[in-house]
Amino acid sequence: MKQTYKFVTAEEAASYVNDGDIIGFSGFTPAGCPKEVPTAIAKRAEAFHAEGKEFKIGIYTGASTGDSLDGALARANAILFRTPYQSNKDLRSALNGERAPYFDMHLSSIAPHLRFGFMPKPKFAVLEVCDITADGELVLTTAVGISPTIANLADHIIVEWNHKHPKELRGFHDIFEPLDPPHRLPMTLLTPSDRMGIPVVKVDPAKILCVVETFRDDEVSGFTPTDDVTDNIGKNVANFLANEIKSGRIPKEFLPIQSGVGNIANAVMASLGTNPDIPVFEMYTEVIQDSVIELLRNGKIKFASGCSLTITTPILKKLYEDLEFFRDKLVLRPQEMSNSPELARRLGLITINTALEADIFGNVNSTHVMGSKMMNGIGGSADFTRSAYISIFTTPSTAKNGKISAIVPMVTHVDQNEHSVNIIITEHGVADLRGKSPIQRAEEIIANCVAPEYKQILTDYLDLSGPCHTPTNLHACFEMHTQFMKSGNMLDTSWEEYKIKE
Ligand code: COA
Repeated sequence: MKQTYKFVTAEEAASYVNDGDIIGFSGFTPAGCPKEVPTAIAKRAEAFHAEGKEFKIGIYTGASTGDSLDGALARANAILFRTPYQSNKDLRSALNGERAPYFDMHLSSIAPHLRFGFMPKPKFAVLEVCDITADGELVLTTAVGISPTIANLADHIIVEWNHKHPKELRGFHDIFEPLDPPHRLPMTLLTPSDRMGIPVVKVDPAKILCVVETFRDDEVSGFTPTDDVTDNIGKNVANFLANEIKSGRIPKEFLPIQSGVGNIANAVMASLGTNPDIPVFEMYTEVIQDSVIELLRNGKIKFASGCSLTITTPILKKLYEDLEFFRDKLVLRPQEMSNSPELARRLGLITINTALEADIFGNVNSTHVMGSKMMNGIGGSADFTRSAYISIFTTPSTAKNGKISAIVPMVTHVDQNEHSVNIIITEHGVADLRGKSPIQRAEEIIANCVAPEYKQILTDYLDLSGPCHTPTNLHACFEMHTQFMKSGNMLDTSWEEYKIKE
């Protein structure tokens, strides 16, 4: 191996990259991302800037990344554009400060959109691997993301060979790239554990520009401990699903679960795991978080298919000590497969994602704070929601110590619309929106999900319209948000000036 490829330092690898270049990075969340090459590119950018020269790169990734990628490049002011998802605080502040143009995309769409030529192709693919063979077989690490596509499209591949991950990960990946229309064939999976690809990303060895050897942990941060609110949300989700099985609306053998990202999603999975009325289940999801590993160990989950193992270092270390136990229980696939609407619909996924806010008619905003500041991005939530068997959104009923109601008259940004959202769940209860008119949905959400102190405010809002199909008052629909911006508390909202005069 040492004779076949050119082994270099991260700084030497970064020296190939120039201002205006576009790079596709491996990984999905901080799992499986290159670490040393992006940080070295950020240092190169800083050196150029110190000499008064331009240096910015365009960045494609699977989803969010670790701090040594998004954080380092954002702090170096080295981002020409960024897509499809992020969750780094420095990048968030750069993109909200107009220093890093960003567009969030459905995560199942980025690889095909690159192949279709909707966006410029990457010049470099920087891929983290745990093994590489002389004939160009790359064994990825803890995520697949868009690696197969960027490896094919890029002119040059820079490999980060991370020896922290065992070579024995070979076999955990199911790598498949569909043909493009009009030659597309069906994705043939019938259950979450079926496979249709190969275990490696196969590339022309001549495209491998250089290899950087590293020994670095994934930069997955821990979860905030569960509290009464997240515990109750989790319990409400589990009880709702148990009741759906009992009533025959979900088959008794249950259906595969997709669960979103973040603290609330992690807590919901833990609750599903402890509820005795929830049968042993499978997951067909995007991100496999800590709680899933524990449930695979204790047998509550029998199989998990995902795009990334986004798990904290101590849990990953233990998983590696027990790798053979997990070999027939886990598979990682490209996001074009893990998030495929075709597969979500066929498998009959129960999808559980998180809202920042929802409105009384069932529209959901998962991305924009007060309509203008980007939190993370839409991620895979719509890939799954629109094609779900049952789509669920969870959210605490309030944010910022009760000064924000997560249920509002109208969301300030729409990620999922009222036609795709079936169920909303907060710590107070469950709103079942199926088969209900907008007014009935509003009543259901106010009765079951809204925090007690906001119920009257939202009920009174409904009276601000005359008879109509959807009681939206265009003058007042953002009054709760504007009140928060004025006084710092949505509870101060008054509808007085909007009342219909008798
Ligand atoms: N207005 C303003 N801020 C709000 C808010 C609202 N209505 N609701 C929540 N927030 C704030 C919280 O206060 C918290 O702020 P802090 O970090 O300053 O404490 C922050 O948003 C995150 O909330 P948290 O309760 O920690 O939620 P989380 O970690 O579960 O993340 C999302 C929630 C919505 C941000 C996250 O799930 C996400 O990015 N989703 C979109 C992508 C997605 O669904 N991917 C999965 C598809 S598979």
